[in-house]
Amino acid sequence: MKTILIMNGPNLSMLGKRDPKHYGSGTLRDLENACCLKGIELGVKVECFQSESESAIIKKIHNSMGVIDGIVLNAGAYTHYSIAIRDAIELCKIPVIEVHLSDIHNREDFRNTSVIEAVCVEQVCGMGVKGYLVAMEKLVSTYMKSSEEDETSSEEALTPEALLAEERQALNEIDKELFILFERRMKHIDRIAKIKAEAGMPTMVPSREAEILERVGNQVEGQYSEAAKSLMKEILRLSRQRQDELK
Ligand code: DQA
Repeated sequence: MKTILIMNGPNLSMLGKRDPKHYGSGTLRDLENACCLKGIELGVKVECFQSESESAIIKKIHNSMGVIDGIVLNAGAYTHYSIAIRDAIELCKIPVIEVHLSDIHNREDFRNTSVIEAVCVEQVCGMGVKGYLVAMEKLVSTYMKSSEEDETSSEEALTPEALLAEERQALNEIDKELFILFERRMKHIDRIAKIKAEAGMPTMVPSREAEILERVGNQVEGQYSEAAKSLMKEILRLSRQRQDELK
C-alpha cells in the first residue's frame, strides 16, 4: 500500500486560533482526520507530521526517501524564504504538492512568492482543508507510480513472517482509522446528549437502535454481518452510557 505524508509547517499547529478569514475555524487535528478519511477512500496509508522547525521538516523529508510515496506540504511561512526546504524537496525525488489554506496570491506581497513552487509538482491554494484532499487525489491519480505488479511479485518472495508483519501493519493502520471514526461518532453523541438534555428528551430510543442495527446488518457483507451487528450493539451501549453520563 502506498503512503502519503501530510506535512504541516510552523504555526499550523495553531489552527483554530488563527485568523478564520484565511484559515477557517477547524483545528490541525480536524484537518489531519479529514486527510486520514480521504486516505481510506483512496486506499492509501496516511502519515501526518507537523513541526515549527525548519530543521525537523528537512529531516522528515530526508527520512521519507524510500518510505513515503507522495507528500502534501504546507510549509507555512517557510514557503516564502526557505531555500533549505526547497533543496530537500528537490533532492528527495518524491512528488510533493505544495498546499496553502489561504490564497497566497491574493494576500500581502511577501506571501505572493513561493521559493518551493518550482520543485513541487503542483501548487494548490485558497481552498482551505479541501485543498489537502484535492492534493491527495492528484498524488494518487497522477504522480504516485502505480506498482501493483511490483507488490504482487514481491509478495510471492516474502516469508510467512514477513507476510504476517505486513498484515499486522495493515491492521494497525486500519485500527487507527477505525478509532478516528469512533472518536467522530462519540463527538456527535456528545452533541446529541446536549440537545436531548436541554429539551428534556429520553436518552434511549429503542426503535432508533433497531433501525441502526438493521442498516448495519444490510450494509456489511454476508459473512461479517452478524459480527458487525455485535460490534454496533457494543458501540450503541457505549453511546447510551456516554449520554447518561452527560445528562
Ligand atoms: C499558509 C500561508 C503562509 O503565508 C502562512 O505563513 C501560513 C499558512 C496557508 O496555509 O495559507 O502559515 O501556508
